Amino acid sequence: MTSISLYKISFNYNNIDDLFSELSVSFDNRSHVAIVGDNGCGKTTLLKTIAGILSPSAGRVSRSASVYYMPQIHDTDAHSGGERQSNELRRAFNSGAEILLLDEPTNNLDATARIKFFNDLKNWYGGAVIVSHDRELLQQLDCIYELRNGQIHTYGGNYDFYMHAKQTEQDALESKYVDATKQLKRLNTTVQIAQQTAQHKEAKGLKDAAKGRRTRIHAKSLKGKSQETEAKKRKIIQEKMNQQLDVRQNLSSQMRDDKIKIPVPIIPFAHRELVRCEGVSFGYNHKEIFYDFSMSVFGGQRIRITGRNGCGKTTLLKLICGNLEPDQGIIKTFGKIAYLNQDLSVLDKNKSIVDNIMDIAVCLKHDAHVIAANFGFRGDASNKQVGILSGG
Ligand SMILES: Nc1ncnc2c1ncn2[C@@H]1O[C@H](COP(=O)(O)OP(=O)(O)OP(=O)(O)O)[C@@H](O)[C@H]1O
Ligand SMILES: [Mg+2]
Repeated sequence: MTSISLYKISFNYNNIDDLFSELSVSFDNRSHVAIVGDNGCGKTTLLKTIAGILSPSAGRVSRSASVYYMPQIHDTDAHSGGERQSNELRRAFNSGAEILLLDEPTNNLDATARIKFFNDLKNWYGGAVIVSHDRELLQQLDCIYELRNGQIHTYGGNYDFYMHAKQTEQDALESKYVDATKQLKRLNTTVQIAQQTAQHKEAKGLKDAAKGRRTRIHAKSLKGKSQETEAKKRKIIQEKMNQQLDVRQNLSSQMRDDKIKIPVPIIPFAHRELVRCEGVSFGYNHKEIFYDFSMSVFGGQRIRITGRNGCGKTTLLKLICGNLEPDQGIIKTFGKIAYLNQDLSVLDKNKSIVDNIMDIAVCLKHDAHVIAANFGFRGDASNKQVGILSGG
């Protein structure tokens, strides 16, 4: 068996933040495995390191298997994207390499091309390391490696296995989080009680002194002592609270973001007709795309448009938002339309994520932050410029 092994590798693009540190993992020429992880966590970078295109800043890579690397395709046009992807895949399967490294291979494929790819993969005798979010594809693989916080976490099974293991992990994190929160509440109560007791003692001391049972000086020294012990106690408790806060912060950073929900806006146009296409025909240079096409879109509907590469999915969206004119028929829209195109050029690369959301969604900064968080950009991350983000 031949293989590629990464041993304690570190990598960074800017000499400051390590994308990986001391990461170890190996791949052989038999297994078909996945690399998954959040957008921008470094999957492509890791694949390029496995391929030998990038060299780690520390650690060792040993390679006894030959590899073929198929890059991630960011295509602006679905048709050419699908064709390019299919061609790249054909080249990969014909390469004769022992391990294929495929970056998001199914992203641009239509249904027919997907079936062909799944078949080719099933019949592929060598190893495959596949970066993907595609659940159906992940379901076919032997092992899932998750790249998280610069480390590899191994899940020795397919997508179902992975999801089950993740759920168990998340449940454990959640119960620890709840425990830490309870502990914090208890400590907080202890601090309050200690404060009250100290105040009570002080008041009692002064009252006793006033009654002449103790001298004023004694009362003052009592007050000093009680303040001293109270301060000591409070310091100890405060330290414990800080510890618990750190524990909770650490747990929270490992927990999924799906607890943060976009507040559901009150939609004034729910169930109203928002788009109407009537008898629409359209073609590019005599190549007919639509003929006598009619449909309506109502508020609250979520519609998925499917079809083979190049059949006109993007064209339909462009017609609806008025970027293209139909040759025949009418298209009416009621209300404001936001169009997020495939190459994301609607986003201003020089502006932050939050500013882009404010522009597109026409909302307040606070809401834009909530929306950004829902997409995994929390805190400072949402002030990053769009231009520096990875494609995903
Ligand atoms: N050439 C580069 N110079 C500087 N930073 C880079 C470069 N290439 C990638 N990065 C940054 O490194 C991080 C990881 O990028 P990478 O493309 O490896 O992530 P990814 O997990 O493949 O993302 P996606 O899910 O979008 O494909 C990102 O923050 C990205 O902005
Ligand atoms: Mg990538």
